[in-house]
Amino acid sequence: MRNIAVIGGTGVYNPEALQGFKELLITTPYGQVACTTGVIADNQVTFITRHGAGHKTPPHKVNYRANIWALKSLGVEEIFATTAVGSLNKGMKAGHFVVCDQLIDFTKSRINTFYDTPERGVAHVDFSYPYCSVLRERVISCLEKSDINFHKTGTYVCTEGPRFETAAEIKMFKTLGGDLVGMTNVPESVLAREAEMCYVNVSIVTNMAAGISPTPLSHTEVVEAMAQSVSNMNLLIDAYIRNNDYTDLLTCGCSTAMKEFGGFKL
Ligand code: HPA
Repeated sequence: MRNIAVIGGTGVYNPEALQGFKELLITTPYGQVACTTGVIADNQVTFITRHGAGHKTPPHKVNYRANIWALKSLGVEEIFATTAVGSLNKGMKAGHFVVCDQLIDFTKSRINTFYDTPERGVAHVDFSYPYCSVLRERVISCLEKSDINFHKTGTYVCTEGPRFETAAEIKMFKTLGGDLVGMTNVPESVLAREAEMCYVNVSIVTNMAAGISPTPLSHTEVVEAMAQSVSNMNLLIDAYIRNNDYTDLLTCGCSTAMKEFGGFKL
């Protein structure tokens, strides 16, 4: 039995698929986390909606530490995250899925570590490759069997938000090598690595980024574009969860990412 979590971004949520569906409220040192859990194809699966019920929590206010702590306390080993993004890359169009392989962090005010108390001490986790190499290959192999338009690599630029970017910022991100821009993958991916869990992010392009899009950006546009991709995302998540034939074992090293610092402890 695998122990998998899905952190669903804007609009992605599919609890009906769970056998023995249960709603949980998990207490962590950072606050409480609501999630749903159950079994799919012999695997324990937990869903968290990143922006909360009714999409009320903005990206800079998401309680990332509580979410990742809660999943760790449930014994989760694999996190499948979805994110809505704007595109800086003309080849990555609305509706395309991107299995990101790199990120650039432009957040400003978020607590991005579990290691900020004297008790925990100082730790500098290796983050050269922010996404789990094994989970990325698994997702790519599911996408190859589907009709979904997707890209095997992409660099995600994480901004602070909640405002959208300026055209000049987007131009700069493009010069720096960014393909996509979103507001949620940091610190979520960082904390997952510190907590020694495998983490993969599948971004859904909802719009061309500021200054590339011919029209001003709007949240409504993002939500409407997501709604069109949700059924594809749910198909992908389902295929990812149900495929238990993996022979790769977990050779990525995510589960021992903190060994230099004595391992991650709850
Ligand atoms: N910028 C930042 N975040 C986003 C965008 C965007 O253009 N689209 C969806 N999320």
